[in-house]
Amino acid sequence: MCGIVGYVGGRPCRDLLIAGLEKLEYRGYDSAGISLLSDGHIDSVRAVGNLANLRAAVGLADEDGDGGVAVAAPPATIGLAHTRWATHGRVTEENAHPHGDCQDRIQIVLNGIVENHAELRRQLEDEGHRFSSETDAEIVAHLIERHYEQDLTEAVRAAFGDLRGHYAFAAMHSDHPGTLVAARHECPLIVGLGDGETFIASAIPAFLRETRRVLLIENGEIVTVTADGAVIIDASGNALDPPRDIEEVTWDEEAAEKGGFPTFMLKEIHEQPDAVAETITDRLSGIDHVDLSELDLEPEFVRNLRRIVIVACGTSYHAGLIGRYAIEQWARIPVEMDIASEYRYREPVVGPDDLVIGITQSGETADTLAAMRLASERGARVMAVTNVMGSQATRDADTVLYTRAGLEMGVAATKTFTAQTAAMYLLGLWLAQSRDAWPQEQITAIIAELKGIPSKIATTIESVEERVRAIARSHQDRRFFLYLGRNIGLPVCLEGALKMKEISYIPTDAYAAGEMKHGPIALLDESTPVVCVATNSPILDKILSNVAEVRARGADVIAIATEGNDDVAEVADQTLHVPATDWVLQPILAVLPLQLLAYHVARLNGLNVDQPRNLAKTVTVE
Ligand code: AGP
Repeated sequence: MCGIVGYVGGRPCRDLLIAGLEKLEYRGYDSAGISLLSDGHIDSVRAVGNLANLRAAVGLADEDGDGGVAVAAPPATIGLAHTRWATHGRVTEENAHPHGDCQDRIQIVLNGIVENHAELRRQLEDEGHRFSSETDAEIVAHLIERHYEQDLTEAVRAAFGDLRGHYAFAAMHSDHPGTLVAARHECPLIVGLGDGETFIASAIPAFLRETRRVLLIENGEIVTVTADGAVIIDASGNALDPPRDIEEVTWDEEAAEKGGFPTFMLKEIHEQPDAVAETITDRLSGIDHVDLSELDLEPEFVRNLRRIVIVACGTSYHAGLIGRYAIEQWARIPVEMDIASEYRYREPVVGPDDLVIGITQSGETADTLAAMRLASERGARVMAVTNVMGSQATRDADTVLYTRAGLEMGVAATKTFTAQTAAMYLLGLWLAQSRDAWPQEQITAIIAELKGIPSKIATTIESVEERVRAIARSHQDRRFFLYLGRNIGLPVCLEGALKMKEISYIPTDAYAAGEMKHGPIALLDESTPVVCVATNSPILDKILSNVAEVRARGADVIAIATEGNDDVAEVADQTLHVPATDWVLQPILAVLPLQLLAYHVARLNGLNVDQPRNLAKTVTVE
């Protein structure tokens, strides 16, 4: 999740733009850059690492005083700046934004992913365009160059029409010292209206100190901003009529960093549609195949793979468990699963015919890194599934599958879990395809379902949140929660139980429902809330009879069921429905009410959900 800031107005804007980037640091980044236009000349500085490095690079530009980003005369009053969270292309200065066209007369900054970047790059290179980065984003500068006929808005509109994916971008042209043009498709874009100046940004904190008057840019819109204001058109070039209302933002700066949400955790729960969309978008570009060509695994190794071992900790372990079901179901490869802190000390039998996958959102968890190294020492191929480019896991592994959830500030993992689960689904389908292990028409059907998951996540959160809040209110003083599930629903229970533990400090247990009668059922009485994951699956009947067993002992059953299935409500006190999809994909939806339940119970008990006691976001100690 990159950060975009743009300015056009009467004030020298170099430091304004960098201050705007500082306000977007919470979005996470690994490099940054700035471009300023003055006297018909654009000058850019980019730097890897944090904003201090960019400031230092700008300072260096100052020292050699050759104008531009330094002390141009007159100082630039129009510019673009960017913080990058790498998804396509390594963390390098060349890959940092802004990116230019062949003549460097156009500069762009982009947040998101251009799904059809490979195809467009080939076309543009055939037309003679020269690229200077590995990124998908640079495409946009060259597309604008391709369409440019003295009208920047029209060129941006035409380029916008060529793109596929999930993005928002802003463009500047050396021939237009008073104009910036930006466009939005899925990723957020906001305009800040000042007095004789206008800002563009991916989030309000970037300019909140300067103005509280904002224009929200909707999906599919293109906005042209000047010092006097903004004009919005749609993708066909029609002006917005009536014009969009200007909104007054009342948030303080801290709330703004949380996007208006009271906590980072709730903000990140609501960011899950984006996190999953960005993780799957360009890997599902076709309708019938999964493109994981980024993985450095030879087809022969994949075909002859004997076994997969997944090692991880905490929430990542639960995503791995879902991955096991999906890989065994679709790719028919045996998957061994272990908690990393156990795996590394149990003398595991592992070797060259095995693929060991370490799942770690931070990429820095000591136990997972050690388990990966152990497997590597024993000759296994090691893959890291991580959310952080450049993290230790990416350096230790032979190959890396990135989730693209953006920086997660809340200690309790939410969006990285659903992004990891989506990555496991991609891997399961890709392995199935690479080994002809699952009928193509079924793979195609699941790909279609997977593409629909981001919007189903948004629908689920919207439809259940109020009810979950009410359930949380009636259960906030319970002293124990039991979670029950079977098969692929069990990892969802484990994750729900962990969330409740780590942010509400209420003891919980998650159990395979079939095991209840072998002991744990003794725990139940009228006061025990039992959360049951009972989404559609081949063994739903079994779960329903287990739920009836616990209900018969007076337990208070809260069930998660698939829309359209009314049987579950028969055996539960409260039922929360999630949209229907393929049964193997249901967990990515079923977990959402459980995240929200833990969140609202903790909030109602006045707890700090972003920084729970005794917990760190990244566990780098053994
Ligand atoms: C989850 O909410 C916790 N923050 C914790 O269990 C976490 O999942 C675990 O420490 C693993 O972290 P990783 O994914 O960064 O390796």
